[in-house]
Amino acid sequence: MGKKYSFFVFLLMLVLVLSACNDSEKASGEAGSDDGVTKMTVKFSHVVAENTPKHRGALAMKEYIEKESDGKIKVEIYPNSSLFGDQDEYQNLVANNIQFIAPDLSKFVGNNPQFNMPSVPFLFKNDEQAIEFWDGEKGQEILSSLTGDGVLGLSMWPNGGKHLTNDVKPIKEPADLKGLKFRTQGGQLLETIYKTLGAGSESIPFGELYTALDQGVVDGQENTFSNIESKKFHEVQKYMTVMNHTRVDYAIFTNTKFWESMNDATRKIVEAGIAEGTKVAREEAKSLNDQAFDKIKESGSIEILELTPEQVEEFRKVLAPIYEEYRDVIGADVLDAALEISKK
Ligand code: LMR
Repeated sequence: MGKKYSFFVFLLMLVLVLSACNDSEKASGEAGSDDGVTKMTVKFSHVVAENTPKHRGALAMKEYIEKESDGKIKVEIYPNSSLFGDQDEYQNLVANNIQFIAPDLSKFVGNNPQFNMPSVPFLFKNDEQAIEFWDGEKGQEILSSLTGDGVLGLSMWPNGGKHLTNDVKPIKEPADLKGLKFRTQGGQLLETIYKTLGAGSESIPFGELYTALDQGVVDGQENTFSNIESKKFHEVQKYMTVMNHTRVDYAIFTNTKFWESMNDATRKIVEAGIAEGTKVAREEAKSLNDQAFDKIKESGSIEILELTPEQVEEFRKVLAPIYEEYRDVIGADVLDAALEISKK
């Protein structure tokens, strides 16, 4: 009995040790060096192109971490859904096959409806207001809401306001959307916006969007200038309406087990690297979008409609009931905190 018991304990210990080794091997190589920094390679997977706020932030993070760790920590960035797309990057983060992702928050409404915040129409006027919300108490609570999956939200990176493109007609007023079908990043509030405007919608992964637009699976989509230009959506769409009605905002998510497995010296460098990435993404988002808008204009390949304040007001009025409709879904405290910021 005693022998059997000791053998069982031995087996159990062996399994635990092997599984711990396996977990750390996914993100790291050899442990230990004079300065205590662990030699390892981490993977950052994302879906957008290189000339975007997200990729610039990721590059700044990589450069900082690799330099400060004297090359002991290697950061591999996989842009353009080259490793994983919208459909599978989250599961692979949960499995610790990759250590960082920076998804559009509106893709997480299925996990927590508070991630509808970037889609609340005409809420934040600019990046600064969105940053203030996500850095604040309510925003931080939402970013921390994936801990049940073993995922930590580390920092918010903005992209910017979204604009409508479509292949059917110039959109100047709410009635122009009737009968059209738009691609969205996720369901819920974005779907409600299109329903309210008499249009249909379908959620399609970013990596499949160009083909979906080109083949007419949907008539249009909404996105930031930098996403439209860097993925050439303007080349397969006839009209673009500058709307700024919803936003693309990201969070850097990491795997909790990976995060906690790092020793202090290693985590300090990685954490500072993320802060550097945050700084660059926040500083460059607006200018990258402005430059992309200029390039779209210069291309001459899409008719651009810039709405007058009165025309914007028409959209605002039609979409206003969504605030009441989503008050309980998102939480009155969260919405009020955001409204307070948006009034500034
Ligand atoms: C989209 O799917 O349109 C965007 O959210 C992609 C991104 O990550 O900016």
